[in-house]
Amino acid sequence: MTGFVDLHSHYLPGIDDGVRTYEDGLALVKGLAEIGFAKVVATPHIRTAMFPNERDDLRERFAAFCERAAAEEAALPELGLGAEHFFDDVVWGLFQNDRAQPYPGGHAALIELNRDSLPKGLDRCFFQLKLKGVHPVLAHPERYAPFAKKTAPMDPLLDVGALPLLDLMSLTGKYGRRAKRAAERMLDEGVYYAACSDAHRPADVPVVASAIARLRKIVGDDETHELLVDNPKSILDGSAEY
Ligand SMILES: [Fe+2]
Repeated sequence: MTGFVDLHSHYLPGIDDGVRTYEDGLALVKGLAEIGFAKVVATPHIRTAMFPNERDDLRERFAAFCERAAAEEAALPELGLGAEHFFDDVVWGLFQNDRAQPYPGGHAALIELNRDSLPKGLDRCFFQLKLKGVHPVLAHPERYAPFAKKTAPMDPLLDVGALPLLDLMSLTGKYGRRAKRAAERMLDEGVYYAACSDAHRPADVPVVASAIARLRKIVGDDETHELLVDNPKSILDGSAEY
């Protein structure tokens, strides 16, 4: 299987907990291409105090990475820039003031939540985003405590158009047994809209490859194609419907 579109990865070097060097960033992108990804969107963290990245700086760094990579490598997957926005008041302010970094095309944005509890009024914020034409894409819901045992607490978010994005490596147990079980349950329930690598370093590539093999076993080739090709494409072109 090929033509995958990765909406979550950390190959832009030296700005978060992803790769540290340009060389590792390039190795990560090439590794993802080798296991079937035709397009890889960098999603550096934007998180208050921890990773206070700014949109304009991210854009400059991304352009520099692409320029250097294109000069050195003939066969690269298509590259894009988004950000993994950790939801809090400060980051919500970025969305309200047009300082966030949505996905290429501007039709959706990746949002990460606190692991332990849901922010109050999150569904209203998601609804406001949707009204602006930006689909909230929910990073790794299987890793959040409120959804660990049951999916129902996610319903208010799904009702306002949130698109759950499976972190493939959850299926390998990389994030623990609780996240693995939750991911398998949500796959069974058909909760996920798309799947992604969330790769942070070249060593993650073989883990992502084995996770894709596991995904194909669990849901079959047709649904794997939807989760890794058709649906991430629709998030980028603005035609996503949950
Ligand atoms: Fe991430």
